[in-house]
Amino acid sequence: MNTDQLRELLPVTRDLIYMNTGWAGPTTTQVLRRIAETLEQESAVGPASAKGVAIGREANNEARVAVASMLNAAEVDVTLTHSTREGVNVVLYGMDWKPGDELLICDLEHPALTSPANVLAQRMGVKVNSVAIPALSQQSEILNLVKSALNKRTKIVALSHIQYTCGLRMPIKEISSMAHEMGIPVLVDGAQSFGQIDVNVDDLGCDFYALSGQKWLMGPVGTGALYVHPERRNMIEPLFSTNALEASHDTTERRPLARFGLVSQSPGLAAGFSESIRIASEIGIGNIEQHAMSLADLLRERIAATVGCNILSPTLPESACGLVTVGLDGWPPEELVTTLQERFGIVGRTVQGPDGIRFSTHFFNTPSEVEKVRDTLEQLAIEKYKPA
Ligand SMILES: Cc1ncc(COP(=O)(O)O)c(C=O)c1O
Repeated sequence: MNTDQLRELLPVTRDLIYMNTGWAGPTTTQVLRRIAETLEQESAVGPASAKGVAIGREANNEARVAVASMLNAAEVDVTLTHSTREGVNVVLYGMDWKPGDELLICDLEHPALTSPANVLAQRMGVKVNSVAIPALSQQSEILNLVKSALNKRTKIVALSHIQYTCGLRMPIKEISSMAHEMGIPVLVDGAQSFGQIDVNVDDLGCDFYALSGQKWLMGPVGTGALYVHPERRNMIEPLFSTNALEASHDTTERRPLARFGLVSQSPGLAAGFSESIRIASEIGIGNIEQHAMSLADLLRERIAATVGCNILSPTLPESACGLVTVGLDGWPPEELVTTLQERFGIVGRTVQGPDGIRFSTHFFNTPSEVEKVRDTLEQLAIEKYKPA
């Protein structure tokens, strides 16, 4: 599938320059159809009839197998969730914390990680060690900063694979091996990486990987998954127990991670999740990454040459990705986002730390869209912001 073919499946691309996949990707007509068909089939046979239950089971299994294959993980090591946050919470609240234990995060993290960290600090006396990592850090600097923050009280390292504010890629593989030398497990927030770049949990060596379907994968909202390394299964207890079997530690059970699921999955959404993985696999994650990166490079290059525009994202290939954060002199980011959307049909979002507007470049975006964004930013830099 090429970019034009993917755009055909995305009606939004006819009306808008949609560069906000990092928040939520548009859903293809194929995924929408798969969701509707599954729900119709389930309803036609009765959702709680033997056939209806089988449809639900099959949809969930198909999604779990598809996620596992995309992560290069064994199927039993993946459980479905409804979001990245859910996976992060299952791990962080499932651990046995003692006052004074340390949780290592960094100051670029999304509230998906900082909120549970703050709650653990308040409720359990956990010390949250938030390492300050400049958005434009080199990979070696990140490693040194993380290394100097690790100590014998560190109970887990929890970091995003790609930072949402600026698109900084984190050296997760190296961080995992450094942490493991001290016996410390690593939890990765994969919200911005799954579907954008190749994620191989075996190669990364991380212990937990939380992800969602609605961003770079362009799947439905309310889908996600959590990978748990088999040796870490017993490190966490279920947040809530659903029934006796699921709360048990019986590792002979066919699905050892089932005990971490609290809320039932919608078969329609699970089927849509699988379909979005199928489409991403058909395009090829390598092609998605390469396309996203080349458009982001083009945007960075054009912005750097535009008076009044500033690039706030990393530019080195090993640290950059398809998220580009930009500042425009004199323009408050919120006003810029609104103006771009209302007057020019360009969709981005504001971020803080660094403060700016973030554009996401996906496989369905084009070089001419990037040029239009640049031209518009130049025009707005010349017009200057005029408060109402
Ligand atoms: C790094 C990061 N983590 C977590 C999330 C939240 O994802 P979800 O809504 O799937 O929990 C986001 C959403 O923007 C994110 O960028």
